Parts: sequence; C-alpha cells; structure tokens
Amino acid sequence: MQRGPAGPASDPELILLKVMAMEEDGVRTYNKAALKCATNADAASKQLFERLVGDEEGHYDQFEKQHDNIKRFGLSYLALQSFGGTAPERPSVPGE
Ligand SMILES: [Fe+2]
Repeated sequence: MQRGPAGPASDPELILLKVMAMEEDGVRTYNKAALKCATNADAASKQLFERLVGDEEGHYDQFEKQHDNIKRFGLSYLALQSFGGTAPERPSVPGE
C-alpha cells in the first residue's frame, strides 16, 4: 500500500481528489495506447483500450459526483451513503 508522507490518507475529500487524478491518468494512458494500436493497424486492441477509456471516464464522473456532494452537503453526506440509498425490496407474497 502506497502511503503519503504523513501516512495513509484519511480525508475523504483528498482521497476523492487523488482517485480522480488517477482516473484522469488512466484515461490519458489508455488513449495513448488506443492511438498506438491505430498506428499499428490493431483495431481489436484499439477498441479494447477505447472501452477502458470509457470505463475510466465513468469512474471519474462517479468520484466527481461524490466530491461535489461532499462540497454541497458536508461530510455527513457520506454517513447517509452508508444506508444504501435504495428502498428495500418488497417481500414476495405467495400467490401473487
Ligand atoms: Fe477506474
């Protein structure tokens, strides 16, 4: 486990900023790989890297949304997330 100079990160906002930077780095890396594949006429690998770019962009968007919500609602927003945010499923009733 990589640690910063002061030990493991514990500030949720800083953690989100760090993972957002990592996702951006992933997008750059996979875009470069896709371009290299195109240069070498490797369409199948190019498509794989392009899918990975989309995945990383989606992850970035999720982390950015969490970061924005922390900025809007404060750290208590994270506590609300621990309850799941979805309604419990209705129990099945025999015969329905
Ligand atoms: Fe990711």
